[in-house]
Amino acid sequence: MKMQHLKQIFTFRFSIKHGALLLGFSMLFFNACVDDNNIDEVFEATPYQIEIPFGFPTKLNIPENNPMTVEGVELGRYLFYDGRLSGRNHPDSLMSCATCHRQERAFEAGVDHPDFPGGFPHGLTGLPTHHVMLPMINLVWNHSGYGWNGFLYPNNPEENLRNIEDFVRLTVMAKDEIDGDTLQTREMIQSIPGYPELFKKAFGSDKVTFVNIGKAIAQFVRTLISANSKFDKYMRGEVQLSQSELNGYVLFTTEEGADCFHCHGGFGNPLFTTHLFYNNGKDTEFTDPMDRFQISKDPMDHGAYKATTLRNIEVQGPYMHDGRFATLEEVIDFYSHDLKDSPYINPLMHHINDGGILLTPTEKEDLLNFIKTLRDDDFMTNPDFGKPGKFPDEK
Ligand code: HEC
Ligand code: HEC
Repeated sequence: MKMQHLKQIFTFRFSIKHGALLLGFSMLFFNACVDDNNIDEVFEATPYQIEIPFGFPTKLNIPENNPMTVEGVELGRYLFYDGRLSGRNHPDSLMSCATCHRQERAFEAGVDHPDFPGGFPHGLTGLPTHHVMLPMINLVWNHSGYGWNGFLYPNNPEENLRNIEDFVRLTVMAKDEIDGDTLQTREMIQSIPGYPELFKKAFGSDKVTFVNIGKAIAQFVRTLISANSKFDKYMRGEVQLSQSELNGYVLFTTEEGADCFHCHGGFGNPLFTTHLFYNNGKDTEFTDPMDRFQISKDPMDHGAYKATTLRNIEVQGPYMHDGRFATLEEVIDFYSHDLKDSPYINPLMHHINDGGILLTPTEKEDLLNFIKTLRDDDFMTNPDFGKPGKFPDEK
């Protein structure tokens, strides 16, 4: 026996109490004398701490059974970008989250996606997705449901339809997305040199499971935080907004102005979304089998969808769940004078009787200039969120 291994055993526990995330650490340090052939297996993982940006809420949506770790996030980033997540390695059948969710478009496809004309994505089968994209921005603050209609939500009686972990499984299986199966994906990832070790570091076992694939990707997605737009810098007192941007901000956050803030935040709500679902007056008939009504069964939810975050919205066209508007100018024209009344329109659409908020051309320009201050280029170029230089088998 010789003294040769310094082992640091690191255990940690996450608990969510009274809306706050408490990190309880208990650390044990000791030197262990171990036989070369008998190195005991100790699961070590380093807690990953999310830094709460200035003014952001402290309550995070991190499931208790998937605490964030540095190793989990690293593994999740590889998997997020690795086309072999499809369970296949032929060049024509590679697809990962990043195929559709592109960092430079705030993790949407964007109108200029090379394979998806106009920003309408389709899966490996060629089948188009039912709705257009949603971005991945500050999702760790969403407690009200993922997807345009919020079909994945905390405490869903259906235990496997609750959180981002479940999106991974659904995406791999969906005909309009990866069109694979979880077993095939698990076996593919297991067979790629380098991955089993990363699973071991993140989850304590080199046996790849689909549950752990989902957990790792969800951990990575939870790190995608955007809080450094021009507007954030203004709120921190670092830059000034132009007069036009300021006028737009006032319009955005006043009822007699453009009246956007009830649904899209912005006034004491730095997420620029309430994460809630509204009918914002686009139509008079509602036939989409995947609107909010299908989830809530509340008749007022016919034609209702998530009021998405307006952070980085500039790069996220086409707009609305069906991509009906190509540009932000069209969206502003719609809110200005093109609203459609129906029994289901949300009462927060206060200006419906005028057909809209009736903005002058200058006000439209101011509103647009304000919305553009929500663009965060650091988020869209942050190397920590980008494609890893090499995949585990390329090292
Ligand atoms: C074929 C394109 C495509 C691929 C590949 C894809 N997504 Fe998506 N994603 C979409 C579309 C379209 C939506 C909007 C779905 C809806 O609600 O109708 C979406 C929505 C989401 C949302 C909801 C965001 C929110 O604000 O509610 C999450 C989370 C998500 N995807 C995660 C993933 C993950 C993780 C992967 C990889 C395992 C992935 N996606 C792969 C197209 C894709
Ligand atoms: C009653 C709530 C409500 C109000 C008020 C409201 N919106 Fe929306 N907004 C929504 C909903 C819901 C959606 C998504 C609707 C859909 O996809 O069909 C949306 C979508 C959008 C989109 C497109 C988002 C995307 O990801 O495609 C933009 C841009 C937008 N709103 C800007 C504004 C602006 C600017 C104002 C103020 C003039 C405003 N909204 C007022 C609820 C609202």
